[in-house]
Amino acid sequence: MLRPLVVAVLVLFSGSIQAETVAVIGTGNVGMALGTEFGGIGHTIIYGSRSPDSEKTQALVAKTENATAALPADAAARADVIILAVPGMATEAVVKGLGDLSGKIIIDATNPLIFTGRPPTVTYGTDRSLGEIVQEAHPDAFVVKAFNTIGWPQMIDPPTPAPVIPIAGENAEAKAQVTEWVNMLGIETVDVGGIYHARGTEFLVVLMLNNRFTGKEKYEMVFVKTE
Ligand SMILES: NC(=O)c1ccc[n+]([C@@H]2O[C@H](COP(=O)([O-])OP(=O)(O)OC[C@H]3O[C@@H](n4cnc5c(N)ncnc54)[C@H](OP(=O)(O)O)[C@@H]3O)[C@@H](O)[C@H]2O)c1
Repeated sequence: MLRPLVVAVLVLFSGSIQAETVAVIGTGNVGMALGTEFGGIGHTIIYGSRSPDSEKTQALVAKTENATAALPADAAARADVIILAVPGMATEAVVKGLGDLSGKIIIDATNPLIFTGRPPTVTYGTDRSLGEIVQEAHPDAFVVKAFNTIGWPQMIDPPTPAPVIPIAGENAEAKAQVTEWVNMLGIETVDVGGIYHARGTEFLVVLMLNNRFTGKEKYEMVFVKTE
């Protein structure tokens, strides 16, 4: 794909890529998409899995550049950046088990979704946002809510024009750093404010999925630049 070219151009113009060790917690669709993509732009990936030695996890390691796997807390301890890609309703328990994440960037891609019925209806599963819950669990980490509003195939193969994803978080530098990495994947960001606003981004997904499951006409939600 285009990725090696993008990386080469960025290296040429910026002098170097700030390559980090990234723990990707969860090895499902989103973990696979963001792990392979972040590995592809030069980061070292450690998948945090409940079964790091399983055939499934090792197959993912094999298809990711610079990757290994470990139990979630081990992966997080060895990383500078954590990507959360676990089921929404498991997120609080998972993050509380990750140890001290002070000073690290946490990219939170989770959504607190509860699926009921058939055809499914989606409800919002918390009275706060998962972004806030993650920040409260790790007050000295820099949580950036990101990637939760696009489907995993778009993370791997973003359409043209580039998708725009909302990001939310308290720390401007962390948001700027995450934006740099997101841009390298061919995706743009719109900064919607502090971590409180993760609520809005997570709820957008409820609307989007309910339209997909129950609407006769299907819509995508997009941000459009006005200038
Ligand atoms: N699917 C999308 O397109 C999409 C897009 C944006 C955001 N999201 C959000 O991103 C998160 C991950 O979505 P996904 O589609 O990647 O989910 P998934 O395919 O179900 O994968 C979740 C992974 O989390 C790990 N995990 C840790 N604790 C778990 C538990 N208690 N129960 C089940 N799995 C657990 C598992 O990896 P191990 O077995 O290796 O531990 C599992 O493979 C969700 O919060 C979702 O709402 C999804």
